[in-house]
Parts: sequence; structure tokens; C-alpha cells
Amino acid sequence: MSEAHGRTLQDHWADFLAVAEEAALSVLEQVGKGDKEAADQAAVDGMHAAFRRLPLSARVVIGEGEMDEAPMLFIGEELGRGGLGCDIAVDPLEGTGLTAAAQDGAMTVLSAGPQGSLLHAPDIYMEKICAGPAAAGRLRIDAPLRENVLAIADALGKEPRRLVAAVLDRPRHADAIGELRKLGVSIRLLSAGDVGPAVATCLPGGGIDLVVGTGGAPEGVLAACAVRALGGAFCGRLRPENEQERARLQEMFGADAERPLQLTDIVRSDDVVFAATSVTESAAGPAPEVGDGGVWLSSLVIAGKTIRRVRRFIPSDSL
Ligand code: FBP
Repeated sequence: MSEAHGRTLQDHWADFLAVAEEAALSVLEQVGKGDKEAADQAAVDGMHAAFRRLPLSARVVIGEGEMDEAPMLFIGEELGRGGLGCDIAVDPLEGTGLTAAAQDGAMTVLSAGPQGSLLHAPDIYMEKICAGPAAAGRLRIDAPLRENVLAIADALGKEPRRLVAAVLDRPRHADAIGELRKLGVSIRLLSAGDVGPAVATCLPGGGIDLVVGTGGAPEGVLAACAVRALGGAFCGRLRPENEQERARLQEMFGADAERPLQLTDIVRSDDVVFAATSVTESAAGPAPEVGDGGVWLSSLVIAGKTIRRVRRFIPSDSL
């Protein structure tokens, strides 16, 4: 574990929680307002302000973009008041469209690991498959989906038709959905937001057995942090969509940039923290409840093997 002043990264879980909460508070007024850019900007502003107070030396490795395209939370930005050094991955608002439409599944998210421990995934797609701890070490991104599903069923001691898979509802997943249907797997089609369901595969009573398909690579790294901490199964492969993305990947990772990635390639430490706060009902908990005196926020924090569900009342006069 990384230590400075006798504290590990995991000991800072409440500091990371505060960052996720502040981002969620900032975005509340945007829920259901139909403007996903404004919702995202509000979350970025809130998260950035909270990060400046963090008693750590944090460096953004997955953020809002390169320095010339994102004024805040850009890749390489140094944040925090100083202290233990760490790398952070952020998705200030996971589910911008869900927030704008007040639909379930939106949350503010960040993950942190020791310096150099997180894959610097650019904002391209990643093919992913993810399941809970029973399937650890049993999944291969280059195996047919059927084999992976049967391995998960075997690991969980369930028939395939008793499995629940979450899949982004996209035309590119037609074959995967067809294969899952053939096996009788129950499919939860997601309009957006694959981080929460991936984390849910590792939560007791999470209700999802596997997540499969191609989604954002940054979201893949964020989810993989929680999965690694809880001993789950996750593997992936970066999927450039055009020559420009392919060239960029090769520049970053060399000739084998599109090789299968194991969980240990994506997150290289167990000393990781994942924090998420619900903006609408999500894997992080119920939607915020706004009342006269303030707002109840619900969050999920995973620090090492410890899972915390935190419900906190924020009085109006401190907002
Ligand atoms: P938002 O940009 O609306 O927050 O969407 C996030 C997300 O749904 C991720 O959870 C997912 O990995 C990715 O976008 C899927 O991308 P696409 O919508 O292009 O299929």
C-alpha cells in the first residue's frame, strides 16, 4: 500500500466521498432540464472545486480531455492541497443524457489509485466483460461470448437462464444480445451508463451477474477500479473507431495497443478507492431527496474490500 504520513489511500475514502457529493449537489438543479451539456458542466465545476480542497496530491489521468480542450479536470491536471500522491480517474457526471431526462442511472463518479496504477485510457471505446468475484480469472475478452457466459454461470452455480446481463442498447450489440437470448439470459437493456451495472456485479445483492459490450474506455477504467478492489472479474480491449484514434493509441501504447487487457493491466494496485453519488436512482443508491431543510444524498464508496453506503443530509444553509 502507498503510505505517506502513516495514511494509505483507502484511509482517505471520506475525502473522495466529499468530492463525489459536491459534484452531485452542483448538478441537482439540472436534473430533468433537458440540457446535458449544462448538467455536465455543473458536475465538472462542483467536482473541481471539491478537488482543490482534497488533502492529497492528485493527478488526473482520466478526465474531461486534453489540456487544450478542457479547462478543468484535464488530463495531467494536478489537484489537491498536497499530501499523499495519487492518480485519479473522473467522470464528473456518468449519464449526462439520463440526468437531462431525469432517468435512472446517473451518478457522479471518481476512482483513485497510487501513482502509475491506472491505465491512461483515452476517450475512445473499450470492449468489456465484467462479472463478480466468483468468476475472477475465468473471463477472456477474445473468447466467444457463449464461453464467457457459461463460465460465469458455472462459477455462480446458476443455469444461464437465471443470469441477469446488463448491455447498452446499441445496434453494435445486436449479435451479443442474440447470443445471450439463445442462452436464455435475462437482459437489462441500458439506454446509457455502464459503470453502475459493472460495479453492481460485485456488490452483494447487486442484481446484475454480468455486463458485456462496448462502451467508453474511461468508464471501463472507473468501473475496473471498483471491480479490482472487490476481487471481481473484468477484461477488455481498446476499440479505436478510425485511423486517427488508432494512430493515437499506438503512439500511447505501442504496436500491441489493441491487445486483450486483463484487470491487472487496467488497474495495477489493490489500494484503490471508488466513490459515486446518485444524481438519479443508480447503483450508488436512491435519487437525492430535496426537502425544505436541505437534501439527502446517497453514495457508494469502495475502499479496498470495504463497501460503504452513505446517506448524508446536507442542510440548505451549508449549500
Ligand atoms: P454520457 O456521456 O451521457 O454520460 O454517457 C455515458 C455512457 O453511457 C457510458 O456509461 C458508456 O460507457 C458510454 O456512454 C457509451 O457510449 P455510447 O453512447 O457512444 O454508446
